[in-house]
Amino acid sequence: MTNRQKKILLGVTGGIAAYKSCELARLLVQAGASVRTVLTEAATRFVTPMTFQALTGNPARTRLFDEDHEAAMGHIELVRWADQVIVAPATADFLARLAQGRANDLLTTLCLATGAPVTVAPAMNHRMWQHPATRRNLALLEEMGVRCIGPDEGDQACGESGPGRMSEPGEIAALLLGEGELFKGRNVMVTAGPTREALDPVRYLSNRSSGRMGFALAEAFHGQGARVTLVTGPVSLATPPGIERIDVESAQEMRDAVFERIGEQDLFVGCAAVADYRPEDSSPHKIKKSSDILKLRLLRNPDILAEVAALDDGPWTVGFAAETTDLERHARQKLEGKGVDMIAANRVGRGLGFEVEENALEVFWKTGQQTLPQQDKGVLARELVALIAEVMGKVNH
Ligand code: CTP
Repeated sequence: MTNRQKKILLGVTGGIAAYKSCELARLLVQAGASVRTVLTEAATRFVTPMTFQALTGNPARTRLFDEDHEAAMGHIELVRWADQVIVAPATADFLARLAQGRANDLLTTLCLATGAPVTVAPAMNHRMWQHPATRRNLALLEEMGVRCIGPDEGDQACGESGPGRMSEPGEIAALLLGEGELFKGRNVMVTAGPTREALDPVRYLSNRSSGRMGFALAEAFHGQGARVTLVTGPVSLATPPGIERIDVESAQEMRDAVFERIGEQDLFVGCAAVADYRPEDSSPHKIKKSSDILKLRLLRNPDILAEVAALDDGPWTVGFAAETTDLERHARQKLEGKGVDMIAANRVGRGLGFEVEENALEVFWKTGQQTLPQQDKGVLARELVALIAEVMGKVNH
């Protein structure tokens, strides 16, 4: 999705950091996104709807029951319109109301009714931020899949110092738009999709991977300034702009394509669902049905990720793991067994994983782990890219 197609609903709640939301609106519009703003009653004490109307070119709303606005673009239409919701600043009171599922004003109603990912950028006095009530509300929100950015630490408007400053508008915009310079000048290779292991000229063994996660990652790395090479098995996805795509069919072909360019890479992300086995013999002619039983002998395919991880002077490596049970144990086994730097583990089954738009990840590395809650694969990919940059930075310095 280009920025021009991005539709962002900006919620502003009543804190002094509301003045920074004007800059956020400006940055998003400047990047080409469409922005519509909803202010809470308290927010209007700090900034005015007119400010946002002027910056975004769209009327800003403040009330749920507003005949004129409802006639123009009703609140349910607004919910359907948005493909991302950002609440910046988010006050302690707003977080509490959202965590409780209240719908007592326009903004909380929209957040409850939307299917789009919701991000909050909290801003409050540091004691309020550290209060157990706020901590609990935040944990509830994260459990619901609400993403939180910030707050930063430093001097506060109240004259005290600590964690509670709203993240900088530039940082929030970069997260929403997936643009930044985290991988500027770096070479990143991503494998994606399934592989096909031929039985004969018309039949093959394969799996249900759609390639969406790998493509979303390639796009997210590109958005962060990387030169991306995407080695993909057969998928029906368009190549994201600015990415070099190499199409392959079998695991062997994928391995060859990867190793042809691996020397140039700073980072290798194995997102492909590589078939573990291939038929021992691939018949040059279509196999005819004859006997009642047809036996196939399968040979183990090369493990591309493990081979890349074993290279002397090889790139930093990230692997994926699809697990139905014992996620952490299996993921940590893969981390050690394949000698990779990071494993992003997928829960599969129950509507997650393959052939779906949304996913959730548990990410493990030697000295830590992090949960990225269930959300759209594009947003998830951007979060994983940011996490990889953070962990790579810590390990390398
Ligand atoms: N991978 C690879 N080459 C293979 C097989 C897997 O590069 N021949 C990579 C995948 O891209 C992925 C990770 O290894 O990053 C998955 O590891 P794998 O051992 O295949 O795990 P699963 O298939 O999830 O599980 P299982 O343990 O059941 O094999």
